[in-house]
Amino acid sequence: MTQQANEEPGTPRGDLAGKHIVLGLSGGIACYKAAELCRALIKQGATVQVVMTEAAEQFITAVTLQALSGRPVFTSQWDSRPAGGIDNSMAHINLSREADAILIAPCSADFMAKLLHGRADDLLSLMCLARPLATVPLLIAPAMNREMWAHPATQRNMAQLQADGATILGVGSGFQACGETGDGRMLEPPELLEDIIAFFTPKVLAGQNVLVTAGPTYEAMDPVRGITNLSSGKMGFAVARAAHEAGAEVTLVAGPVSLQTPRGVTRVDVKSAQNMLEAVTGRAQTATIFIATAAVADWRPASSQERKIKKDGTGQMPTLTFTENPDILATLAQSARAQSGALFCVGFAAESHDLEDNAQAKRLRKGVPLLVGNIGPATFGRDDNVLLLVDAHGSRELARASKLTLARQLVGEIAGRLKRAG
Ligand code: CTP
Repeated sequence: MTQQANEEPGTPRGDLAGKHIVLGLSGGIACYKAAELCRALIKQGATVQVVMTEAAEQFITAVTLQALSGRPVFTSQWDSRPAGGIDNSMAHINLSREADAILIAPCSADFMAKLLHGRADDLLSLMCLARPLATVPLLIAPAMNREMWAHPATQRNMAQLQADGATILGVGSGFQACGETGDGRMLEPPELLEDIIAFFTPKVLAGQNVLVTAGPTYEAMDPVRGITNLSSGKMGFAVARAAHEAGAEVTLVAGPVSLQTPRGVTRVDVKSAQNMLEAVTGRAQTATIFIATAAVADWRPASSQERKIKKDGTGQMPTLTFTENPDILATLAQSARAQSGALFCVGFAAESHDLEDNAQAKRLRKGVPLLVGNIGPATFGRDDNVLLLVDAHGSRELARASKLTLARQLVGEIAGRLKRAG
């Protein structure tokens, strides 16, 4: 994270700076992941207070979590140590009063059932029941065997917990500690972290349907060779993540890149510019925002050979001829939806020089209200960037920062423009 210009020196940094999270562990083998989660929350600037059930202590020690959180761990409702700075021997009340959220990870099937019924026979369940409903959200990361997860009782409990206001963060799928394979694993700590950061993000794009293109395209010459470029796709993936955090439904149409799909984002993989155009055309009918970050190849080989082009022994090079690719952004910007104001189009411009002039000329040529300029060779593959926002009123620089930080700022800019327009 880049320190914001208006922050005091020493201000905690990170996506969860200033947040206080009560991390509750119930009994399950996934307790081993809670140690890493605790660390990840702290690395993002949160303070973490751990509360464990007796069953959780069978899987991981309070000592480990005390060392990682830097705070004494609470396990018993009879623990009379001061909690939350108050010395009245009421840990179940005091621990939640300063919390921004209570996160139960792992949440066992038994603990879900307990929460559902409002039972309060240990510190963790007591604290959940005693939390101020209106101000302290309850987040649940279930963890259990696939049969337990699929059982109607668990599914019923989950639906009721949601109806009671809890947020269920979902489960992972795959090989389970019990040796079976299926749904029910606790999400991995980086996935939970992404969800928690998204949970705290203001929903400035709620109700919006965002379509993003990202990465390079690959234009085949024959079955084994093709033409592509150095775009990593990182900016587009960051934009998709930031739009999801801001509450939008997001579809990410990605060229060939090997990046992890942001949580909650629907990904469609494509290869060529033509594939990309086909993938976005139908989806643009329901989208309200289109953000074109992809480095689309301008040309493709006029014909792609079905068999590998071989050397013929004469030393003669094959002759390649090219056809211009469709301009995806310009096509969408000229569509009836965009022209009527139902689809807000944002372009990117990868330039090598004269950024402002080139970006402004490109914005007008493509017919988009907002274009984001950057120096291509200086950013391809990197994790940070500098952006220049160009619109009908002029330009504004977004200072060097991580691509995720810039993507969040861009999402804020788009939300602000839509609000002013609507
Ligand atoms: N773009 C697109 N389809 C294309 C080419 C570009 O959708 N066939 C989009 C990109 O995703 C980006 C914007 O148009 O949002 C500008 O892309 P860029 O490569 O900078 O510009 P070009 O239009 O290719 O112009 P030039 O290469 O001449 O600078």
